Amino acid sequence: MTLVAALIKIELFSELTSRELKKVASFMTQVNVKAGRDLTVQGKPGREFMIIAEGTATVRRDGKVLATLGPGDFFGELAVVAGVPRTATVTADTDMVIEALNRREFTSLLDGSPKLAKKILVGAVKRLHEIEESVVR
Ligand code: CMP
Repeated sequence: MTLVAALIKIELFSELTSRELKKVASFMTQVNVKAGRDLTVQGKPGREFMIIAEGTATVRRDGKVLATLGPGDFFGELAVVAGVPRTATVTADTDMVIEALNRREFTSLLDGSPKLAKKILVGAVKRLHEIEESVVR
């Protein structure tokens, strides 16, 4: 399967035209990750936005599980978009295949599609809300 064919299936990209999808595909760097590796570390700076192509990862903040992410899910947007430290540690549960974008590539992805930018924004607000709830409880 080509990368573009794989990207069409990802909900985040569902509203992109095939031209936009080709552009996104050209930005992406595929990375193979071994089970157990930390993809982000809470409190550390972060430079990549990542989309899961294969495998699963667990999101933890202060050791508490916030979520498990799988194929089609994205993470790493918070530190990259706002220049803040990573809000959580994301650890590979299995061997994984990740598609990574650096800050410049992620910014041009957002600039190119307001609909996609809105999905990322809504997702980011929900995630921060969950973090806030987990602190209050
Ligand atoms: P970032 O802070 O860059 O790095 C850690 C990532 O974990 C964060 O971006 C989000 O993508 C992700 N994350 C943070 N909180 C949650 C949550 N409540 N649910 C799912 N993912 C989260």
